[in-house]
Amino acid sequence: MKDQYRTISEQYLQARTDDVTHFLETPSVQSALGDISGARAIDYACGTGHFSRLLKKLGATYVLGVDLSPAMIEAARRAEGENPLGIVYEVSDAATMAIFGSFDVATAVFLFNYAEDEHTLARMLSSVAANLTEDGRLIAVVPNPDFINGRDDMLPYGYFLEEIGKGPERLRVRMNFVGDKKFSIEFTQWSRRAYADALAQTGFADAEWTPFAVSQEGIERYGQELWNAILTNPKSIVLSARRKPA
Ligand SMILES: C[S@@+](CC[C@H](N)C(=O)[O-])C[C@H]1O[C@@H](n2cnc3c(N)ncnc32)[C@H](O)[C@@H]1O
Repeated sequence: MKDQYRTISEQYLQARTDDVTHFLETPSVQSALGDISGARAIDYACGTGHFSRLLKKLGATYVLGVDLSPAMIEAARRAEGENPLGIVYEVSDAATMAIFGSFDVATAVFLFNYAEDEHTLARMLSSVAANLTEDGRLIAVVPNPDFINGRDDMLPYGYFLEEIGKGPERLRVRMNFVGDKKFSIEFTQWSRRAYADALAQTGFADAEWTPFAVSQEGIERYGQELWNAILTNPKSIVLSARRKPA
C-alpha cells in the first residue's frame, strides 16, 4: 500500500498540536472510549502516536501502535523516547491480517479512509476483529459520509478539501493543510452503507455514529461561533462497534 506520509511525518506531528485536535477530536475520541483503565489497547494507523499516548494516559495498561509508514513509526518512537510512556510501536499494514494479540479496545483514527476498495476495507476490519477479544470495542474516526464540501469555509480550522474523484459508495478527497508548513493528503470518504456492509461481514455489531463535540475549554477559548461550521457540517465522525462473540 502506498505510504503518503514518508516525507511529511514532522509536518503531521506539528499538525496534531492544533486546536481542532486539542478541543474537538481528542475529547470526542476520549468520550467514545469511556473508562479504559486496565485495558489492553491497539491503535491502528497510529501515525505519530497522538491517540496511542491518549490511550496510555487514560489508563490502558498496554498500548501497541501500528502503522504502515516507517517514517511515522520513527516519529512516534522518537516522541516515546523523549517522554517514555511504555508504548510499543510496530510497522504493519492493517490490511494484512497481522495478529498481535488479544486487545480489549482498538482505535483506528483515519485508517479506513486508506482502503482503496471495499475488499480492503473489509480486510482492515477483519484484522481489527482478529485482534479484539469477544465483545472488544472498535473506536474509529472516519471522514463523515454526510459531509457537504463547499458549504462552509474550513480555512479557520486549518485546511480546505477538494473532491478529486467519485465511485460507487465513495468520494476521493484531497485535504490541503494551510498552516506554516503546507502539505496535502488524499483519502476516500466511504458511504455509511460501505461501512455497514463491511462491519456486518467482519463480525462487528452495535455500530454507532457519534458526532464530534467541542470541549468546554474550546468554547471558553474561542466562543461557540468559531465551532459552528465544523459542528453542523463535520468533516469527520466517530464510528464505534463491538466484536460479536463467535
Ligand atoms: C491521517 S494519519 C492519522 C494518524 C493518527 N491516527 C492520528 O490521528 O494522529 C493516517 C495514518 O494512516 C496510516 N495508514 C495508511 N494506510 C495504512 C494501512 N493500510 N495500515 C496501517 N496504517 C495505515 C498512515 O501511514 C498514517 O500514519
